[in-house]
Amino acid sequence: MDTEQKYSISQWEEPERIYADLKKLTSQPIYEISEEEHKRVLEHFDTKCAGSKRIATEAKNFIPGGVQHNLAFNYPFPIAMAKAEGAYMYDVDGNEYIDFLQAGGPTILGSNYPAVREEVKKLLDECGPVTGLLHEAELLLAKEINKHMPSVEMFRMLGSGTEAVMASLRIARIATGKKRIIKVGGAYHGWSDQMVYGLKIPGTRQFLESHGIPGSGYRLTDEVRPNDLKMLERMLKINRLKGGTAAVIVEPVGAESGTRPISFDYNKKALELAHKYGALFIFDEVVTGFRLGLGGAQGYFGVTPDLTVFGKVIAGGYPAAGGVGGLKKYAGLMAAGVATGKHRAYVGGTLAANPLSSLAGYLTIKEIEKTNACVKAGQAGDRLTAGLKKLVEKYNLPYVVYNQGSIVHLECTGAMSFDYSSFCLLKSVLGVLKNKPMVMERKVAMEHMGAAYMANGIVTLAGSRLYTSLADTDEVIDEALRRFEKVFATVVKTDKGLVK
Ligand SMILES: Cc1ncc(COP(=O)(O)O)c(C=O)c1O
Repeated sequence: MDTEQKYSISQWEEPERIYADLKKLTSQPIYEISEEEHKRVLEHFDTKCAGSKRIATEAKNFIPGGVQHNLAFNYPFPIAMAKAEGAYMYDVDGNEYIDFLQAGGPTILGSNYPAVREEVKKLLDECGPVTGLLHEAELLLAKEINKHMPSVEMFRMLGSGTEAVMASLRIARIATGKKRIIKVGGAYHGWSDQMVYGLKIPGTRQFLESHGIPGSGYRLTDEVRPNDLKMLERMLKINRLKGGTAAVIVEPVGAESGTRPISFDYNKKALELAHKYGALFIFDEVVTGFRLGLGGAQGYFGVTPDLTVFGKVIAGGYPAAGGVGGLKKYAGLMAAGVATGKHRAYVGGTLAANPLSSLAGYLTIKEIEKTNACVKAGQAGDRLTAGLKKLVEKYNLPYVVYNQGSIVHLECTGAMSFDYSSFCLLKSVLGVLKNKPMVMERKVAMEHMGAAYMANGIVTLAGSRLYTSLADTDEVIDEALRRFEKVFATVVKTDKGLVK
């Protein structure tokens, strides 16, 4: 194992304690901010965020749901941002926030990092944002990725992580001649038809989010229980009777960015199992690539995947962040050109690999190397996690706190901690139906907590995840902890969140 302070994670925590604590959390009533505090929070938004309210109210008429992002904070209404810089965000009313959303993860250097911005500006002046033809920055980026992740012998840049996952599955099907794909329940691999299956809560298959997708879209997708190698092997065996598995795709620190943590040796063993049954092993490093370390999760876990999917940091927080790479024999199957005459995996994208995104990605990786950003962001994550754990203890709360370096999890309600994984469809459906009201109550409480954090100047990802960056100095983290304490001090035990 190669962990010598090159990676964001100082020590891997095996998942047993976390799963046990999450189970305890969901078998207790919800602890959330008191009703009086909730009223104060709503008042805060009404009086201090009038500009956001005006924009959000009008946006409802022109934008579906009033926001463009699934990760947008939208309770009691979305906050309109004016500026993101370093560790902070500022809304249109001039309120300042410590930013642990970090746009969902791409800004490992902190938002709008000056050294990258200045070069991007120059490129815009000299070249413009797009040419549609080859630009040297594409080569620089592909070589830079290969330097740090030798398994990525070739790299194709695409417009998003979603597209890159689609490409990786197509390659796997060509390479193996098989069709089925196994993913882990709860994992997010973008929103393509075949991957919106078993989203967020393991075992929910098509019942939670697959509306509008024909059954044929996910007919060849299977999900297995998180951190369960036995179930993975059983699924691989069953699939042999159905024509075989083309790929096993995993998120390296566990489904939904580590919300479903795994044992350290899970990835290595899952890879061995995939290969044993003739499937490719795909590492979806959209979140972990150049966040866990320059070597990505594959360097950290000592795993050589057949294909690696990239997104987020790959364009340094600039648009069109996606790509897939791997061993030449697989990645080479995406050969481009009007007609190659090859049996190839067809991929494309008008703005994919534009000079701006390619250069921003390349410079970002260079800056990560120069500043040791992944390790520093991980230290900030450790400090935040330790501080939150102390607060949870001080206020005697059942909350569960853990981190994988710069990915910090703060589970206050356990809304996402249920699991219906099973080979039996009926069992899953009954489980979902039985627990639906309790999950919904927990989701509402999670929104209340998220709103309280926001009113106290902390932006989180959906009230339960926090990404740290190079910009999160000790002072920033300590200030964030003071703000968290203000919220935790108002938390009370409710009678909600259990099956009645
Ligand atoms: C692990 C993982 N894979 C794929 C995606 C999809 O990437 P994108 O949002 O760029 O389409 C995401 C997005 O959050 C992700 O976290």
